[in-house]
Amino acid sequence: MSRLTPIAFETTDLDLMETAEGRVAIIVAPDGKLNPAARRANRLTRGALARLLESERFSKAKSGQVISLAWPTGMAAEALDVLVLDRKVSAVDARKAGAALAKLKGDKALSIMAGSSGKAAELVLGVALRDYRFDVHKSSDEETQDTPGAVTLYHTRADEVSEAAAPLLAVAEGAHMTRDLVNEPANVLTTTEFADRLAEMRELGLKVEILEEDKLEELGMRTLLSVGQGSASPSKVVVMQWDGGKEGDAPLALVGKGVVFDTGGISLKPAGGMEDMTMDMGGAGVVAGTMRALALRKAKANVVGLVGLVENMPSGTATRPGDVITSMKGTTVEVINTDAEGRLVLCDVLWYAQERFNPAGVIDLATLTGAIIIGLGHDNAGVFSNDDDLCNAFLKSAAAEGEGAWRMPLGKSYDDLIKSRIADIKNTGGRPAGSITAAQFLARFIKDETPWIHLDIAGVASVKAETDFAPKGATGWGVAALNRLVLDKFEASE
Ligand code: BES
Ligand code: MN
Ligand code: ZN
Repeated sequence: MSRLTPIAFETTDLDLMETAEGRVAIIVAPDGKLNPAARRANRLTRGALARLLESERFSKAKSGQVISLAWPTGMAAEALDVLVLDRKVSAVDARKAGAALAKLKGDKALSIMAGSSGKAAELVLGVALRDYRFDVHKSSDEETQDTPGAVTLYHTRADEVSEAAAPLLAVAEGAHMTRDLVNEPANVLTTTEFADRLAEMRELGLKVEILEEDKLEELGMRTLLSVGQGSASPSKVVVMQWDGGKEGDAPLALVGKGVVFDTGGISLKPAGGMEDMTMDMGGAGVVAGTMRALALRKAKANVVGLVGLVENMPSGTATRPGDVITSMKGTTVEVINTDAEGRLVLCDVLWYAQERFNPAGVIDLATLTGAIIIGLGHDNAGVFSNDDDLCNAFLKSAAAEGEGAWRMPLGKSYDDLIKSRIADIKNTGGRPAGSITAAQFLARFIKDETPWIHLDIAGVASVKAETDFAPKGATGWGVAALNRLVLDKFEASE
């Protein structure tokens, strides 16, 4: 698994600006006033920095942008990165600025002269989030396989920044885990490999249980099993418990769709773009990454993560359109389309989570519908909820973390679309309101008294263009927002 680039925190030492290799970054406010690091850089470069600061390019630069001086005279570094940044910036903007530095960094070492910046820890989080590569399957020569250059942040109060950054870096590490899982191809990340990677998190103090097919059969999780029955990979449910809160306090439950590959099953998907369905375990990936972040920063909350791991394949043993399956809850489901499999996985795990843990709230995450991409594109996840308090708290957390989230409606009237002629409910409602009927399906498996949010992350889990915080591919969307929700809403009462 890829690890975070090491980040060191050191007391400001301007002499290093001359000798540091790789890249050196300084921060300059839009007014162009020279701070100590800028003054030193200007002296070393014999006035090149001052010329840059007087240039039209600089006067047009917006806060958050970086202007690079390549191969600067008087410095060993191959670039001096001048980060233009307002003196007062929001946490998210500081992160974006850090991400901009990380994007330029590539595999080089990076020394950031942060002076006495009050947002240095957030800047570091931005660096850590953006400094990600998924190159485990690239066979390149020894030289380029070298570990990427380290990051050093120089600050007048290095210890303070280091302390403030620790819980933030836990979030970055969680997000990187999510990305690794989501980027991994399905021949590598089988259900078994996925479960093994989750079991490794026992070393962080998480309790991890793996429920195998015989146990799932015994529990009656027939709808989940019906999705995986055409695959050579065994279906599994993994339960991860973090007991950092008060003993006996009802936990928050996070539930993830973990379809390691979605061919559509007998309702086979078209070939074009099918390879993208390696990311159909994105919900489970976010649950895993969030549990990792919570464990790393030793969150003072009880949180349980449950993921349903299956592979949706067509075969002689696969579920057919028209089959009727009985869920763990007892509700019978007519499978109209075997490609609407995510809800079949989630409904059993959601029911199990409520029966076993009596949670204070349930949040499920799933790359559930193509329709949510039509509705919201790649900038916002769809948010569905039966509880305004929990929902508003989540929307606030997502906004604070710069992760797009937009509330969508639920409503009894949509239930008409998923009425079945021969069973209690059918698994698709046709094209109209496709994301909402999927959510309505899930709602049938949520107890009246359980506060619940369903996050449809099909549009945001993995994207074709880079985002503010991630290169192309898996984003890790949701880890930061969920971590913040736990921090603000489930840890507040001491
Ligand atoms: N995994 C897909 C949804 C998806 C689509 C995720 C695109 C990411 C990108 C899901 O299992 C699916 O196939 N949904 C169907 C439902 C339909 C058959 C009712 C869809 O959205 O077309
Ligand atoms: Mn599908
Ligand atoms: Zn799917």
